[in-house]
Parts: sequence; C-alpha cells; structure tokens
Amino acid sequence: MPHTAARLRPFATSIFATMSRLAVERGAVNLGQGFPDFDGPSWIKDAAKAAIDQHSNQYAPLPGLPVLRQRLAARYTRDTGLPCDADTQVCITCGCTEAIAAALLGLCNPGDEVAIVEPFFDSYRGCLALASATPVPIALRPVVHNGRIIDMALDEGELRAAMARKPRAILFNTPHNPTGKVFTPAELALIARLCVEHDVIAISDEVYERLVFGGARHISIASLPGMADRTMTLSSIGKTFSLTGWKVGWVIGSPSLVTAARAAHQQLTFSIATPLQHAAAEALRREDDAVAELLPLLAENRDRLAEGLRRLDVELFMPDGTYFIYARHEALSRRLGVTPAPGQSPDVACCMALIDRGIAAIPPTAFYVRPELGASMIRLAFCKRRETIDQGLAKLAQL
Ligand SMILES: Cc1ncc(COP(=O)(O)O)c(C=O)c1O
Repeated sequence: MPHTAARLRPFATSIFATMSRLAVERGAVNLGQGFPDFDGPSWIKDAAKAAIDQHSNQYAPLPGLPVLRQRLAARYTRDTGLPCDADTQVCITCGCTEAIAAALLGLCNPGDEVAIVEPFFDSYRGCLALASATPVPIALRPVVHNGRIIDMALDEGELRAAMARKPRAILFNTPHNPTGKVFTPAELALIARLCVEHDVIAISDEVYERLVFGGARHISIASLPGMADRTMTLSSIGKTFSLTGWKVGWVIGSPSLVTAARAAHQQLTFSIATPLQHAAAEALRREDDAVAELLPLLAENRDRLAEGLRRLDVELFMPDGTYFIYARHEALSRRLGVTPAPGQSPDVACCMALIDRGIAAIPPTAFYVRPELGASMIRLAFCKRRETIDQGLAKLAQL
C-alpha cells in the first residue's frame, strides 16, 4: 500500500468487505455482514420517491433538514426525559458511521486518549487513527456458567483504570455489536459515575436502540445523572428500518458537543441526501409500526439460529438485542478440521473454512485492540429472511 497514509494502513481493508466479497464469489449463505436481505417498509421508500419528485434535490442545510431534526429532538426527549433543541442539539450525518467520525474528529486533538469497549464496531479504531487519537481498551469478557456463556461482562478493573487516565472520551455501543449484549443499568450507572468523576465525555453508539428482545430494555446513558451535558448520542435509521444503504444518521447532545461534531461534519460531507432526510422524517413518524413488524422476525431468527447452533454443540451468548449471535467456533472448527496457517488467527481460519462450505460468518479479531481476546469467537448475523437462516443451518448441519 505505498500510497496509503501510514496511520490508515492497518485499517485499509475491512473484514466486512472481504467476507461479503467472498460470500458473493462463492455463492455462500451470507450470515456475515449485518445487513438484512430484505428491504424496509414500502411506505418509507414511497416517501423518498415522493421527495425526489417534489424537487427536494438540492443541498440540505449543514445540520440537517429542520423536519428531521425536530422529529429526532422530540424522540430524544421522549426516550431520555431531557429537553432537546432541534436547532442546536442535533446534527444529521451520513449514517452512524459518519456520526462516529464526526464525534471523534470534532472532539479529539492529536495524542488524546479515548477509552473504547472491545470488541467494537470496526470503524472506531480507524476513526481514532484519523483523529490521531489513541485507544485505551476495556474488555467485555465472557462469563461462563454450567458450560454456557451467560454474559459478556464489562471488565470493571479495566474500566476504572482507563477512566482514571482521564481520557478525552469513552466510546461504546449498546445494544452491542458484535456480542448482542444490552448494557445493564448497573454497568451504565458505573460508566456514568466514572465519566462525572473524571470529567470524561461519553460517545454512545445506539444504532441498535430499538432492536431488543424479550424483557431487555435499552437505556441511553445520556439520561443518567450528570450525563446530559457530557454525552453524544449517536444512531441512524439503518437498522431500525432495515434500510442500511440509506446512511442517514445523527449526533444528539449538548449545544457545545454538537458544535464540535458539526465542525467535523462540515468538512467531511457537509450535508446528507435531501430526499432521504425527508423520508427518514416520515420513517420516524411511524417508527413504532416499523419496529412492531421487524422485531418478531428478528426474535424468531435469533431463537432459530441459536437452537441450530446449540444442536451442533456450539457455545454461544444468547443476545438480548441487535442482529448478531456471538459464539465460540471450537465445535465448528473441530468438525471442519481447521488448522490455522502460520500467523493466521483461529477465528479467521474457521471463517475461511466455513466460506469454503458455503457459509459466511465474521471473524471478530479485527474488533479488538488485543486480538487474542476474540480469537476463539465468530459472529453470525440473523437479520435475514427465515429461508436464509434455514439455508445457513442446513449447511452447518452438513459439516
Ligand atoms: C455498532 C455500529 N455502529 C455503527 C454502525 C454504522 O451504522 P450506519 O450504517 O448507520 O453507518 C454499525 C453498522 O453495522 C454498527 O453495527
């Protein structure tokens, strides 16, 4: 990569792009990248078409269309109980991906430290590299009881140590990709207390905020005591409405924090596709309808995939939210007779063998500062049509 800047070289190819390309090339069942193989509701697509036809095709204002910001501000107030001014506290971005970049680039000076919970969404590290900031990792570790992973628990010692370094921010994600964990009230309260004690900003990626199952409940850390003015809440419409390709996201926070994000957003993209912002506003108006339609499918897929994996003796963490099951690959690697090549991580070796047998999954070591923590795991996505899950399970059963 002779032309690629040194700080970006380690992050130049994403594991998602690699696995999705291989899945297409090999005609594999794609349980890898987290995008649905079905479209979001047709009434949202109709709203986008109508916006295009009504000449909403020129630049939107930098912070986003007022109608979308107002809808998000009202939604934020409903969810957190906090006041939110649509003019100064919301910035519309190109998906949550740009929200992450805008938050980090807007906040960090070169050399700043940022605490990140690992495993993490892969763009976190690349964006920290863009900002010339340094990650301080805090692990989620499996808690095993009677041979089952019952939690992916936040390492409290690492959390306290990272926060005592007074990083510029802590960046984390709940409901969590890739583990499917929904952070508990106690974990969020501890993070919040440490943010207040050490004067740290929370960057809270809540892109799966509506995708929680059973009795689990998503809590925005912004709603906890002392956090309203020190939290940037990030999300997008991609997951909630099964429209991952639309890339309409946002940052919400205090005017001062949103000013920082807007300063970066101005230079990154300036503004986001105008007709899709109109359609996103319509989507949010009827958000509960869309969620009510999607959740039963996701919950059933989760159960189906988990049951199929357990039949193959795969040890897994039963997710309370998101699109994903995080599992130990040992039983599959054994069936496949996988031996990692020299220098190859066992999770990558397993996923390469799986794709040869027609199933795409994601090896998670790329989601860690300390890859060894993820070497025994793989991630499987269940945000798919039921037939896709069944095809994947049939292929797994043949191993
Ligand atoms: C945790 C997390 N954050 C952010 C994103 C990116 O969201 P968007 O597609 O809206 O850019 C994803 C997408 O997979 C994700 O899983």
